[in-house]
This record gives sequence, structure tokens and C-alpha cells, in this order.
Amino acid sequence: MARHLITSALPYINGIKHLGNMVGSMLPADVYARYLRQRGHDVLYICATDEHGTPAELAAKEQGLPVAEFCAQAHDAQKAVYDGFALAFDYFGRSSSPQNVEITQHFARKLHENGFIEERAIRQVYSPADHRFLPDRYVEGTCPHCGYDKARGDQCENCTRVLDPTDLLNPRSAISGSTDLEVRETKHLFLLQSKLQHEVEAWVARHEDDWPQLASSIARKWLNEGLHDRAITRDLDWGVPVPADTWPELAAEGKVFYVWFDAPIEYIGATKEWADQDPENRDWKSWWYEADDTVRYTEFMAKDNVPFHTVMFPATELGVREPWKKVDYVKAFNWLTYYGGKFSTSQKRGVFTDQALEILPADYWRYFLIANAPESDDSSFTWEHFTATVNKDLADTLGNFVNRVLSFSKKRFGEEVPAGGAPGEAEARLGEEIARLLAEYEQQMEALQFRKAAAALRALWSAGNSYLEEKAPWLEIKTDKDGAALTLRTAMNLIHLYAVVSEPFIPATSAAMRAAFRLADDAATWVTEDEAKSLASVPAGTPFTVPPVLFAKLTDDDLADYKERFGGEPQ
Ligand code: 2FM
Ligand code: ZN
Repeated sequence: MARHLITSALPYINGIKHLGNMVGSMLPADVYARYLRQRGHDVLYICATDEHGTPAELAAKEQGLPVAEFCAQAHDAQKAVYDGFALAFDYFGRSSSPQNVEITQHFARKLHENGFIEERAIRQVYSPADHRFLPDRYVEGTCPHCGYDKARGDQCENCTRVLDPTDLLNPRSAISGSTDLEVRETKHLFLLQSKLQHEVEAWVARHEDDWPQLASSIARKWLNEGLHDRAITRDLDWGVPVPADTWPELAAEGKVFYVWFDAPIEYIGATKEWADQDPENRDWKSWWYEADDTVRYTEFMAKDNVPFHTVMFPATELGVREPWKKVDYVKAFNWLTYYGGKFSTSQKRGVFTDQALEILPADYWRYFLIANAPESDDSSFTWEHFTATVNKDLADTLGNFVNRVLSFSKKRFGEEVPAGGAPGEAEARLGEEIARLLAEYEQQMEALQFRKAAAALRALWSAGNSYLEEKAPWLEIKTDKDGAALTLRTAMNLIHLYAVVSEPFIPATSAAMRAAFRLADDAATWVTEDEAKSLASVPAGTPFTVPPVLFAKLTDDDLADYKERFGGEPQ
């Protein structure tokens, strides 16, 4: 059994994420991690909040809180939502942790020793009133192109043009509003990525054939454009400090590392956090350092994060000249849109993960989102599609099957799995079909093809319905009681099989289905081909209960409510 290291892109700390973030990183990573664990692999799934940078400072300011306090609260708030979504991280850390500070500083020292970091003087806006240099987005003013008067120094939100703070007309500090701004010379650390271009190219060349096209084409594009040296420090109060032992002058000026320098290092930092909170996890380095080929590392992210993970972070890891584990497989996602338009955190458009859980339990969302993940293209969230999918796949195909079989059997045979009848041709055909679909499901999960895996799972559920329609135990019972008992017993075995194999998608419902049967020993974590064919793991005589309705059917009124609350019109 292999060891699987899994990470999903670290969500920014500034606010609860929307469904688009969820489907492009954490949720598929969780589904994959759960699947691999069930198949007996040793899995370590790590994620964390990405806490540094200007967005964190700005969000804290908006709430009138010190940044550290804001981040602590916002981390807990995000973690609570992820618990609600049943994301089974092995550890959910914080990029502001002492562990990440230590490892980030170590990386920087090593890059420096190896000749990949250089101090360079640049000219930057200084605000005497604020006693600080202003990062580009802390300078506001009028856009020279469109006249928008709240343009930021890095970009104009109105016309989307990329700007330099010195382009702005009537510039002012976004912190104090002061217009008394100067341009001063200041030193920053630059990562000499240009020196690493060839090594990164050779490394990408060894891996890109294994990656999905979306990831390899983005990596290629960046490499073809050439890797540029990049400033990796900023003038912010909040961040990983530049280590004073190596750069005393910059440390004294209070420089911190740029958020995109320390964020990917937090994948390692969070693993150390995980280790430090439990002595049992002391071997954390075996996942990351001098890792041999028994560890397979898979990263999940949306496409805008791909350059950082396929080119820049590997460049950093290579330049450190220590054997840190680099990614084996990059699972990248396109965008989930909201009625064809952008989900937007800043404009509060779309459905946020906390709101989603207020409306319906996590399994509804988990299934819908993965079944419609934007894998090969963007995909659009609409309430019409969501309610139709819930009603058809979850309420009818799965939920109704479970309730119908168990209620009918209870009514006619009592509260134990009925005995009688011997499997015949229909059961043999069903077993073959289930084994075939299960193999298809496994293959798609192993290939990280989530939509296709969801389709195979849905086909497994449908096969139960077809069998039930064919055998029609509600008619059979009138003429052949043993035959009806066999049909219901077989269908109950399907329910148990569904409980086991649906767990990566719908863990809570799976637990409810499994708990319906009081088996003496129910340690099964997966279903073998033989078990799929024989459908006999739940023997006659096993006590069972009928669970409450697994998935509520959503009505036209529900649909209208959702659309009214969230806005459901094409953008
Ligand atoms: O784009 C984002 O949401 C970033 N916070 C992702 C960081 S991923 C990693 F490198 F930490
Ligand atoms: Zn503009």
C-alpha cells in the first residue's frame, strides 16, 4: 500500500469561501483522501488557512481587530464550516504558525546560501503620515485610463488595467487617506528564479506527461515566457519576518516575506504542526524530506494557482538544495460559475459555504458539486440544476430505493433481513453488473476523474432500481413469498454496498445507511469483486431499522426561495 500525501490550496483567511472555492480544491481532495483511506492506503491530507498578505491586513482593519486576533477568529470560523462539510483533514493548520515561520526562514537562508537570493534596491511609495512604505494596493487614486477614482496601485478594478502606484492621479494612502506621499528607495529580497529556469524546465519535463492537460499547459506557458526574478519581501506588519541573522538591516526595517513565498511552504509547516500536537506523528519528515518513492504527493487547486504550484514553488524547493518532496500529480480545476457569471467574494455573489449548510446538509452539496466539478471546462451552478439533481439522483435514485426496500420488507417480513429463496439468473446478472460498475468507479477514482466517478456511482444506484423494477417484490409477494424475500435481501445487500462505496461522496448518508443494519461484525472498508457479485454480506436474520428519509425532495417553492435569496439570473 502506498503512502499518499494530499494537499489542497490554502484558503485565504479573509472571509468564508464560496462553493466555487470548495469544489476546486478542498472537496475533491477530501473525496480522494477518503477513497484512498478506505482502500487501505496510508493517507496524510493537509490544509491550512493562508493568513498573510494585504488581504488579511485589510480585512482585519475593516473589522477593527488586530490582525493576529482577526486571523485566529477567522481560522476557527472557516474550520467550523469545513467540519460542517465533513472535510476529514488529517490537519488543518495556519500559515502564521511558528512552525511555518521556522521552515520559511530556513528555506530563505538556504536559498541565500546557494546564491538564489539577492538584495536589490527598488523605488517605492512611502507615507510619512503612516510611517511606512505602502504596498501597491495600499495606494489609491484616480485611474489614468478610465478616470475611476478608487483605483488601487496594482490594478484598476473598473477597467481591469494593471497599474503601477506611480501611474495613479491624486494618489493617497489607503490606510490614512494622506496625500503626502513620497517615492523612496528601499531594499527587498529577490528570488533569482531566472537562475533556476533550466532546472525547473527539466523537472517539469519529467512530470508533465503524467499531469492533466490543464496543469501542464499552464506550466509550459509560464516556462516559455521565462522565469523572472521576483521580490519575495514586503513592507507589512503581518507576515513571516525576514530572519535577522541573515539580513539584519531588512529585519530591523520590519520586512516580511511575500505571502506567496510562505504559503506553499505551509504545506510542510502544517505537517509539522500536525506532528507537534501528537507525539505519535513524530515521523512527519518522512512525508516530506528525503521522501522516497513510496510517497505519492497530489495537490488540488483551481487553475489560477497552477503557476505557483508547478513552477514557482518547485523552483523554491529546488533552490533550497535539500531533498524536499515535490508534487507528483497536480489536479487542477476550471471555474464553477454562478449562472454563467463569476462567483465573487468581494461582490458577495453566489453561494457561500456557510449559507449552503444553513439550507441543506453537506451531503447534498458534496454530491452535486463533485458530480458537476469543473474538470475539463468551466461549469455553471444554477438552482434549477441543483434542485433537479438532488431530486433525481439523491432523493429518487438512492434515497427512495433505500426507504422503499426497508419499509416494504419491514411491513411484510418484520425487522430482520428475510430468509428464503435462492439466487437465480436475475441475481447473477445483477452481481455481474454491480461488479463491472464498481470496477469502473474504482478506475475513475484512481484516475482522479471525479465527474466520471460520480457517474459510475450513480449507475450503481440505478442498477438497484432496475433490479427492483424487474423483480417487483410488491407483486412477487402475492405468489412467491420466498422469491420476494430473496429480492428484498438482495436489495438490502445493495444498500449495504452503497453505504460502503458512497462514503467518499456522502459520508453522513453512508453512515446512516450502514447503521440501518445491526451486523455482528461490520468492519468492511471496501467491497471486493466477489462480494459485489454475490451480494450476500448481509445475511438473512440480520436485524435492521428503517432510517428517516435520506434526502428530502426539493419543491418548486424551495427553488423559488433559493432564487429569491441568492439571485438566480444569468449575469
Ligand atoms: O488563491 C488562493 O486562494 C491562495 N490562498 C492559495 C494558496 S495555495 C498555497 F500555495 F498555499
Ligand atoms: Zn481604470
